Amino acid sequence: MLQHRHLLGIEGLSKAEITMILDLAELYAAQNRSSQKHSQALAGMTQVNMFFEASTRTQSSFEIAGKRLGADVMNMQMAASSITKGETLIDTAMTLNAMHPDLLVVRHPHSGAVALLAQKVNCAVLNAGDGRHEHPTQALLDALTIRRAKGRLHRLTIAICGDIAHSRVARSNLLLLGKMENRVRLVGPRTLMPSGIGELGVEVTDDMETGLAGADVVMMLRLQKERMDGGFIPSEREYYHRWGLDAAKLAHAKPDAIVMHPGPMNRGVEIDGVLADDINRSVIQEQVEMGVAVRMAAMDLLARGLKAQPEGTMV
Ligand code: NCD
Repeated sequence: MLQHRHLLGIEGLSKAEITMILDLAELYAAQNRSSQKHSQALAGMTQVNMFFEASTRTQSSFEIAGKRLGADVMNMQMAASSITKGETLIDTAMTLNAMHPDLLVVRHPHSGAVALLAQKVNCAVLNAGDGRHEHPTQALLDALTIRRAKGRLHRLTIAICGDIAHSRVARSNLLLLGKMENRVRLVGPRTLMPSGIGELGVEVTDDMETGLAGADVVMMLRLQKERMDGGFIPSEREYYHRWGLDAAKLAHAKPDAIVMHPGPMNRGVEIDGVLADDINRSVIQEQVEMGVAVRMAAMDLLARGLKAQPEGTMV
């Protein structure tokens, strides 16, 4: 069981808890490949998905995960909700709370919004991405994908490349991979590195050749244009030339290095489309597959906590 009522970030998780989630997800990954995909871990429970930002894979992945565990799953249509009429996030949450959901999955454009909401409701809250802050299930699914491909999740060299500054995926991965004792390098233009990066204890470079040298894992990030107000990169063509991953740049990594991307991809901007589809190097589809398994594991473990301590003394 997890020592938490919510899954708000990697920050609060111990190494043992991360391993526990991944080990259970491994079982669900096998179950998802069989024809009997259902179990009863969330039977009788209600899961509500509230996505205040666009999402394809994360939302559908949480929905499938909940259904496979036997929950009643509802997707709130946020564009059509009272938020557009001026209702605050907290009022919406309180209204929903009165309907007694057991699990609330939330994505929000503001860092910290999901944690704030978790203080106001009685159910378990899962952070599906808050601003530039955290995206814990993404880091967990990345970790499971790496562990399966490399046979371990420690003492690996992992290059996280591109738009680090705007990326909650980078932040959660940095925390998780650091906890598991890997060597993490951040690679990208200086304008896309967050301030205070020097304090994180990771290697930082703006040169792909240096950053990828000897890497076991090359994790590419989307250029998050919706979070930029211009001036961060010279042009997309120049960006691709210097920081876009293609076969020539990948040649600096280890010969068996894997290529990752959380999606959605800008083909021809941060990654070459042919490389992204190369099943000998790219594990992008496996990341999507592991996403369902990891979310099943996380919700199963939180539900066990709810059953054991319904009033909840856990944080
Ligand atoms: C990421 C996100 O939304 O943070 N996507 C995802 O969840 N698969 C990354 C991104 O939007 O680039």
